[in-house]
Amino acid sequence: MRTALVTGGTTGIGAAICAALQAADLRVAATYSGHEARAASFTEATGIPTFRWDVSDHAACAAGVAQVETALGPIDILINNAGITRDSSLLKMSEEAWKRVLGVDLDSCFNMAQAVVGGMRARRWGRIVSIASINGQTGQFGQTNYAAAKAGMLGFTKALALEVARDGVTVNAVAPGYTDTEMVAAVAPEIMKTIVARIPVGRLARPEEIARCVAFLVADEAGFITGSTLSVNGGQAMI
Ligand code: CAA
Repeated sequence: MRTALVTGGTTGIGAAICAALQAADLRVAATYSGHEARAASFTEATGIPTFRWDVSDHAACAAGVAQVETALGPIDILINNAGITRDSSLLKMSEEAWKRVLGVDLDSCFNMAQAVVGGMRARRWGRIVSIASINGQTGQFGQTNYAAAKAGMLGFTKALALEVARDGVTVNAVAPGYTDTEMVAAVAPEIMKTIVARIPVGRLARPEEIARCVAFLVADEAGFITGSTLSVNGGQAMI
């Protein structure tokens, strides 16, 4: 049985990914950063163990991965899902808001991949899927930090895919559109109205619809798909 680790896996898209991977007969673990009670009820409901560390911290990722591997065995599948927003227009954006979003959303991909990719190469099989965003592909008013981080994830994915292609390790990204999660619920309702009006399908994505794409990409049968970005946005941006 293969083992998958989902960062930020106790809520939103991450929780749906955990459920989809568990349904695909994988051993699944999730990381979380702060919400102890939410992590505890997630484990109670799903049986999926959770581990707490800050994915923007390189040393914490190395130590955390070692802890997961001691508990569950080698990590065959990494899902870089943890992400945050700190929206504001550029002139109002604090340096902290820039650095925190780049740290959690983009540095985490480097930190986590570096901790697991050596083992995947040695075992000659691995899957890394990073959850990017439509807003990294198109830009979004008030999101210079988030758009930069998410666009960075796409370049990271392609470069790493080249480095490990011969070792049975694939590296891909999924770029969701606006999805029915707490993150999107935090956007002002009048702004959300204008955003939903631009989605041809006429609604937000459900987290399960994003998770399905991740399950597809981590399957054995997806071994020829690498360095790609799967856009899942209801037709909002056909890229
Ligand atoms: N387009 C054009 N103009 C806009 C605008 C927009 N989207 N948003 C605000 N403005 C205008 C304002 O009306 C204001 O104009 P006036 O000065 O003439 O009144 C000017 O721009 C400056 O606006 P603010 O001072 O209000 O700017 P702000 O720094 O407070 O931030 C904002 C505005 C809260 C970031 C707002 O633009 C916003 O909510 N944008 C959407 C952000 C968004 O979509 N976030 C997605 C979060 S979920 C997610 O990211 C998940 C995913 O992957 C899809």
